[in-house]
Amino acid sequence: MTTLLLDRPELYEAWFPDPDARAAGFVADVAARFGAPGHRLLDAGCGTGRDAAALAARGWGASAVDLAPAMVEHVRRHHPAVDAAEADLRTLDLGRTVDVVTCLDSTLLALHDTADLLAALRRIAAHLVPGGLLVAEMRNGAFLLTADAHVELLAGETERVRRFDGVEYTARTLLHVDHAAQLLRRRRTWTWPGGGHTEHTAWRLLFPRELTDLLDRAGFDVLALFDTPGPRTDEPWHADAELGTALTRDRLHVVARRREETR
Ligand SMILES: C[S@@+](CC[C@H](N)C(=O)[O-])C[C@H]1O[C@@H](n2cnc3c(N)ncnc32)[C@H](O)[C@@H]1O
Repeated sequence: MTTLLLDRPELYEAWFPDPDARAAGFVADVAARFGAPGHRLLDAGCGTGRDAAALAARGWGASAVDLAPAMVEHVRRHHPAVDAAEADLRTLDLGRTVDVVTCLDSTLLALHDTADLLAALRRIAAHLVPGGLLVAEMRNGAFLLTADAHVELLAGETERVRRFDGVEYTARTLLHVDHAAQLLRRRRTWTWPGGGHTEHTAWRLLFPRELTDLLDRAGFDVLALFDTPGPRTDEPWHADAELGTALTRDRLHVVARRREETR
């Protein structure tokens, strides 16, 4: 499944700016706080590669994989310090291990079936040294599956306009929760002068306990599960932030450590 933003990495970054490299700062702080065994990183589902590149600039040995060819091509062209490869997380096999794997902004939730999620988590575990950390960030099923349809995120179609490279892009987006399938579904209609199309995308919604169980089955111990703060929450992350463990908010952050033996 591809979308305009996955095909157009520069537009993706303009659409979702992160000028202060909040996501990379979050990863670096979390890795230090939870005792990552070293500074070799794999960003799984790296998108444009900007997080891996920001960590490389901080001295990390950074590698990155993504399913979208345009994204991998972008990483190679713009971030030569990042070792980038095209790969599907379900079958990932780089033949080496790292100290930290990141999987940010709901990348895991692009996998809708439990078997696919488990396969991806097992492949991630196989790429971590024992004691290595997985740092993942995603939408929180506990929030969305119980949310009132009127919460801002689900309240109706939103419109956003952004000028990029001299062209005005308009996106009209409607999100809704498909409770039976445990999916957050999105219909987005793009228009720009002389063009446009409609995309249908979805993300699996996981309850925290489901995520913990999947991680356990893949060979991880969960060290922390929190909804705030994080790189995409209103409360800014800081190195000694208190972690919100009620898990009632929109985002879920998980830190999990690979056990000695993976199953
Ligand atoms: C929402 S973007 C997040 C990108 C980046 N992690 C960030 O935080 O900006 C999700 C990314 O996951 C990638 N992706 C989705 N399914 C994947 C899979 N099965 N294997 C590898 N990458 C995948 C997409 O191509 C996309 O670049």
